[in-house]
Amino acid sequence: MSRFFGLSLTAGAFAMIAVSALADGHVTKAQEDAIKARKALMGVVSYHTGLLGSIAKGETPYDAATATAAAENLAAAASMNPSVLWIEGTAQGTVADTRAKAEIWTDWAGFGKHFGDLQEASSMMVEAAGTDLASLQASMKGIGDACGACHKAFRGPQN
Ligand code: HEC
Repeated sequence: MSRFFGLSLTAGAFAMIAVSALADGHVTKAQEDAIKARKALMGVVSYHTGLLGSIAKGETPYDAATATAAAENLAAAASMNPSVLWIEGTAQGTVADTRAKAEIWTDWAGFGKHFGDLQEASSMMVEAAGTDLASLQASMKGIGDACGACHKAFRGPQN
C-alpha cells in the first residue's frame, strides 16, 4: 500500500513539473538552439530576397554576378533539411520566442512542400538573375509567393 502511494506521488510530481514547464514556456538548450538557428536561416533567406528585391526595384544597380550570387545563396538556404531546425516540441504556445505553428508537425509533408516551392522559385531566379534585369524582375513574384504561402499556413501571429 505504502509503495503504491509512493509511486502515485511520484507520478503526480512529474505531472506538476510537466504542467509548470508548459506554463512558463520552459525550453531546453537543444530547443532554444534549434529555434535560434531556424530564425537565422530565415534571416539569411530574407537578406538575399531583400537584395534581389532591391535590384528588381532599381535601388541597387543590376549586375549579373551579384544577382546570381544572391539567387544561388537563396536556393542553397531553401535546400536545407528542416528536420533538425523545426524539431519536435518547439511550437508556438508550447515554448516562448517562436512563431512556428503546431501545424508544421501535424502536416510535415505540407511544410516540406513549401520549402520545395521556394527552392524551385530560387532555382528559376538563378537562371533569371544571370540573364538580365527584366528576367530578374519577372521572377521576383515566384519567390514572394513562396514566402507568403508558407507563412500564411505555418507562421503564427506575433508573440
Ligand atoms: C517552408 C516554410 C517557409 C518558407 C518557404 C519561408 N518561411 Fe519564413 N518563416 C517560416 C516560419 C515557420 C517562421 C517562424 C520561425 C520561428 O519563429 O520559429 C518564419 C520566420 C521568418 C522570419 C522571421 C525570423 C525571425 O528572426 O524571427 C523572416 C524574416 C522570414 N521568415 C522571411 C522569409 C522570407 C523572405 C521567405 C521567402 C524568401 C520565407 N521566410 C520563406 C516558414 C517559412
